[in-house]
Amino acid sequence: MTAISRFLGSDHKRCDDLFANTETSVNDGQWDQAAASLNAFVDAVERHFNMEEKVLFPTFEKAIGSTEGPTRVMRMEHEQMRSMMALLKDALMKRDADEFFGHSDTFNTMVQQHNMKEETILYQMTDRVLSGQQEQLISEMNGIVATS
Ligand SMILES: [Fe+2]
Ligand SMILES: [Fe+2]
Repeated sequence: MTAISRFLGSDHKRCDDLFANTETSVNDGQWDQAAASLNAFVDAVERHFNMEEKVLFPTFEKAIGSTEGPTRVMRMEHEQMRSMMALLKDALMKRDADEFFGHSDTFNTMVQQHNMKEETILYQMTDRVLSGQQEQLISEMNGIVATS
């Protein structure tokens, strides 16, 4: 049986790789490729956020009887990352590499801190609290499609 932590942790890695591709393309001045790559990344992240916000977080909040715990902070951080991704898209549309890398530095730090908190704290809690429902939750999360 796959644990929630392993399932979502490997999705973090998949998203990280897509963003690294975008950075490489911007660095090489391959703007069309960078745009396609950023779109693929944003879709993957939006799908990941939806798996958390629509499936994992509500189930966890119901199980612990509170929406005021770590999921509240994670939802707020998702909003910050969504704003940053809009700025990244903007910079890319203008083909402004300096602006892009200015935002991507901040963005990378934000993502790394967020993912670390989920992987070391929240996902571990969900593995424990939702241990009987892992298979069901993973299949529900797999059913989430990209919406952007
Ligand atoms: Fe998250
Ligand atoms: Fe996550």
